[in-house]
Amino acid sequence: MIRIEPGLLARAGPIIRDIVPAHRYAVITDSNVHSLYGVPLKSQFEPHTIDILTIPAGETSKTREMWSTLTDRMLISGFGRDSAIIALGGGVVGDLAGFVAATFMRGIPVVQIPTTLLAMVDASIGGKTGIDTPAGKNLVGAFHHPAAVIIDPQVLATLPLREFRAGIAEVIKYGAIADRPYFGEVTKALNSTSRTVAPQDEVAASAPATAPDTSTWPPCAAPATRAPWWTSMPT
Ligand SMILES: NC(=O)c1ccc[n+]([C@@H]2O[C@H](COP(=O)([O-])OP(=O)(O)OC[C@H]3O[C@@H](n4cnc5c(N)ncnc54)[C@H](O)[C@@H]3O)[C@@H](O)[C@H]2O)c1
Repeated sequence: MIRIEPGLLARAGPIIRDIVPAHRYAVITDSNVHSLYGVPLKSQFEPHTIDILTIPAGETSKTREMWSTLTDRMLISGFGRDSAIIALGGGVVGDLAGFVAATFMRGIPVVQIPTTLLAMVDASIGGKTGIDTPAGKNLVGAFHHPAAVIIDPQVLATLPLREFRAGIAEVIKYGAIADRPYFGEVTKALNSTSRTVAPQDEVAASAPATAPDTSTWPPCAAPATRAPWWTSMPT
């Protein structure tokens, strides 16, 4: 089940409890996302039913060592087969948390709440999970489909512009590779927005405060005004 709606994160708790009932939930997130969205999500659950496990932000966390740390922490905290994992973050969190879910007690459900555009359009969907090894990226992993994917485009408001561009590049790539009409829709949507990703934005690319204006960018527009390429995401 994939749900896409602005403001969905504020209602994620009841949705998750309904679709993926569990005695306890382990939210796996990274340090940046935790500081922005960890508390709002946690506050929607009874305190004794939810733990937040935070990893350092970045690709360097997608390791066997971090997988061990997370699974050990869950075992020590008494998580069992009746638990579920909530992956709150970008593709790094999604891949790692998904792999923890695939392997913990031989597999427990995972809910993906992607917070980067790349994770929304790609990494959170399709069930590919995994970690990096010294021999290469994503070489150890498993297919473990999410029980639910909850996408709130409003969280893109805090995403650094560099990360937003990475997601847009992926969207354009799909169009160029696979689907001419879709590519046309993407191009039209990008051209019709009031803000384009101009070179001068590079200067401020590292600061979340300069993330795209979500009132005008297609991913965050109100449902009725969403650009076609956004609404045509696979469900
Ligand atoms: N499983 C798949 O099918 C699949 C597909 C594509 C990519 N991937 C994997 O995804 C990973 C890359 O994912 P990514 O590009 O999302 O990077 P990421 O998860 O590292 O996130 C990028 C940065 O943005 C920050 N961030 C995330 N959401 C934010 C928000 N809403 N506001 C502010 N900051 C935010 C993160 O803390 C991080 O610093 C790679 O490891 C790649 O292998 C997996």
